[in-house]
Amino acid sequence: MDTQHEMIICLGSSCFSRGNSKNLRIIQDYLKKNNLETKVDFKGNLCSEHCNLGPILQIGDRIYKHVDESNIISILNDEFGGNL
Ligand code: FES
Repeated sequence: MDTQHEMIICLGSSCFSRGNSKNLRIIQDYLKKNNLETKVDFKGNLCSEHCNLGPILQIGDRIYKHVDESNIISILNDEFGGNL
């Protein structure tokens, strides 16, 4: 069985209001469309301790900063495109 990949979106007030509210929906759609829902352990946390660099998204041990609508799909494609 494949190891699950962990992805954590910061849902703290700073990240949430600066874009992770939209990013959350984009990620949920992406996981669904690409049949990744069972392969990616996707969850939220309340602060990733990089508030001034948010919105923050963690995938495995990588921390993505300033994640927004313009870069989120390419981040997800880099992480998950064809590699699972
Ligand atoms: S609220 Fe997201 S890093 Fe603090």
